[in-house]
Amino acid sequence: MNPTRATALQLCPFTPQLEAGLRDRFEVIRWFELGAQEQESLLRDRPPSVRAVVSGGHIGCPNALMNALPSLGVIAINGVGFDKVDLDLARSRGIRVSTTPGALTEDVADLAIGLIIGLLRGIPAADAYVRAGDWLKGDRPPARKVSGRRFGVVGLGAIGLAIADRLAAFGPVAYTGPREKLVPYAYHPDLTGLAQACEVLVIACPANASTRHLVDAAVLDALGPDGVLVNVARGSIVDEAALIAALEAGRLAGAALDVFEDEPRVPEALRASPKVVLTPHIASATVETRQRMAEIVLANLDAYLTGAPLPTALV
Ligand code: 8YV
Repeated sequence: MNPTRATALQLCPFTPQLEAGLRDRFEVIRWFELGAQEQESLLRDRPPSVRAVVSGGHIGCPNALMNALPSLGVIAINGVGFDKVDLDLARSRGIRVSTTPGALTEDVADLAIGLIIGLLRGIPAADAYVRAGDWLKGDRPPARKVSGRRFGVVGLGAIGLAIADRLAAFGPVAYTGPREKLVPYAYHPDLTGLAQACEVLVIACPANASTRHLVDAAVLDALGPDGVLVNVARGSIVDEAALIAALEAGRLAGAALDVFEDEPRVPEALRASPKVVLTPHIASATVETRQRMAEIVLANLDAYLTGAPLPTALV
């Protein structure tokens, strides 16, 4: 360890580019590789050298960690979600928090479209069918049509809008959110009304206390037995137990999920279901986007280290 350099706690693995950039700037502690005892003793020591926490949007920075780091000055999130960072606590401590806005909008929207087509057309199952040699025994039954379907988007921020703009090529698009926007899509002030009006419901809103389990049994029932749910936002927004029950009872046709309530743990009932398409939180995981995200994370850390304003600070 070089005592003259600041220390950064790295809370999850990153691309080689971002990890090299962190090592260039900091002594790096790979927190996620420490055992429980090592983590506890580090927290007890309240290490004064730690000035930065670098994390993913899905992990954020637990309050216990923030509270145990007296010199913490910046939490740099490699993502746009800040649901796992207590911004009020950060603000009260004078800790800056940055994210990577804009960098991943297109990729998340692209994946949402891929999931919708994959689910309705049964692409993963068709791929498995060919690989298993089952085609020799006969054709697969027809799947479901994408074009012409009615789409609903929950949350029309940058990502929701990018999804809506793509979906407009396939069929009528409606949305819900806190307020109506100047967009060529139908606004529904409430989620149940939107779910009733559409056949494909795509979740693109931020996770927070007011959106926790926003998609519950009543919303799923409003979507109905021909409806499908797509989630590229956060697992906490959907009541996963209610989703599983609806799928099992045939009250919902299917779901395509990139995020889960307790990821990377995914309930067996979902993993075994033929009605779902599942991906491991990959919406922003392209080489190009992860490179851009790394550049933004490092630009924020450089600004912090030189005392300049952070380019993409939330706090
Ligand atoms: C990433 C995300 O998976 O932006 C977010 O909030 O959840 C994702 O982009 C993650 O943050 C990668 O570190």
